[in-house]
Amino acid sequence: MHKAFSTPLTQALGCDYPIIQTAMGWVSTSQLVTASIKAGAFGFLAAAVMTPKACEAEIKLIKSKTDKPFGVNIHAFQNDIDRIIDICIDYDVAALSYGRGPSPKIIEKVKTAGLKCVPTIGASRHASKAVKMGADILVCQGQEGGGHTGATPTWLLLAQVIDQNLGVPVIACGGFKDGRGLAAALTFGADGMAMGTRFMMSSDSPTPELTKAEYLKSDVTKIPVSTKLDGLPQRMILNETVNALEKSSKLGLLMRGLQNGMKYKSQTGLSIAQTLKTAWGMARQTDMSLAQTLMAGNAPMIIQKAMVEGRPSEGVLPSGQVAGLIDDLPSCAQIVSMIITEAEASLNRVRA
Ligand SMILES: Cc1cc2nc3c(=O)[nH]c(=O)nc-3n(C[C@H](O)[C@H](O)[C@H](O)COP(=O)(O)O)c2cc1C
Repeated sequence: MHKAFSTPLTQALGCDYPIIQTAMGWVSTSQLVTASIKAGAFGFLAAAVMTPKACEAEIKLIKSKTDKPFGVNIHAFQNDIDRIIDICIDYDVAALSYGRGPSPKIIEKVKTAGLKCVPTIGASRHASKAVKMGADILVCQGQEGGGHTGATPTWLLLAQVIDQNLGVPVIACGGFKDGRGLAAALTFGADGMAMGTRFMMSSDSPTPELTKAEYLKSDVTKIPVSTKLDGLPQRMILNETVNALEKSSKLGLLMRGLQNGMKYKSQTGLSIAQTLKTAWGMARQTDMSLAQTLMAGNAPMIIQKAMVEGRPSEGVLPSGQVAGLIDDLPSCAQIVSMIITEAEASLNRVRA
C-alpha cells in the first residue's frame, strides 16, 4: 500500500484507508456502514434520525457482521440525546460526528470514554471554535457538498482551514468521488477525504432504486441550494417538489411544517410539548427564527418520501453536485478499491 494512505486520520480512527463515509439520514444505515467499513473506509451511522432503540439495534447489527471500527452521527437537539450517547459509549463506538456541537458536558463525557469527536464545518471561522470545543478531527465540507452546506467552495475552505494549523487532522469533503480527488486532497495537505453522495450512489445503500435512478440522471448544474425545506441552505436535486417549495409563501411553508412536524413526532416518540420545546431550544441556540425552526419539521417527512418510500418526485433528494458526474452504482468494496488504485496511480504519476 502507498505510504501516503497511512495518515493521522487512519491512525486516529483505525480504518485501512483515509476515506470517510459520512452520515446521511435514512441512507447511512447499518447496511451501508457495514459495507463501507468492511471495504476499509470509516463509516458513520446516521443516528440523528433514529430513536435510541433503533440506534442500538443498528449498532448491534454492524457489530454482528464485522469488528471494524465505526462512528455514530448525532444531532445536538435530538430527543434522548443522552441515551444515544450512553449507547455509543456502552457499545464502544469509535467516533461521534455532528454539525452544530452538542453541549460541553456531552463532549467531555464522550472524550473521556475514548470516542473521537469529528464535527463537520462549512465555514473557516467555525474551525478553531470546533477545535476549542473538543474536535479531534475536522471534516471541512465545501459548498459543492450534499445536504446542509455552506457558501465556500471545497478547495478554498480546505486552504483556509489547513492554513490555521489547528493541530488536528483536516478532512476534505464536498464533491469527491474518485482516486484523483483523494490524491489531490492528500497532496493539498488534507489527511483524508469524506464522501456522502458517492456512497449513497452504491449498490450497498438502502435508497430505493427509483430514487437512485433520479440521482443517476441528475445534471451538475441542476443540483441547487434551497433554504425552503427547513430554513437552512441545503443542496438537493431540482425536481417538482423543490420547484413547488420555492414558489410557496412563508405561511404555506409554515403550515406544511407544522403538519409534517406532528407526523414526525410519532416516529421520534416526541410529544407535542417536547416537539415545541425542541423547536424553541433550536431557535434560541441557532440563528434560526421559531418559524424557520418549525419549518424544519417539514424536512424529515418530505425527504423520506424520496429516500425511504421510493417516490422521488414527491420528495426531496439531498445531493452533492458530484451526483451529476456519477453514472454507476458499484458496491462500497468496488468504490474503495477503485479509489485506492486510482489515487496510487495519480500519486505515482506526479512522482514520475
Ligand atoms: C442524501 C444525503 C443525506 C444527508 N443527510 C445528512 C444528515 O442526516 N446529517 C448530516 O450531518 N449530513 C447529511 N448529509 C451530508 C453528508 O453527510 C456529507 O457531508 C455530504 O454529502 C458531503 O458532500 P458530497 O455529497 O459531495 O460527498 C447528507 C447528504 C446526502 C447526499
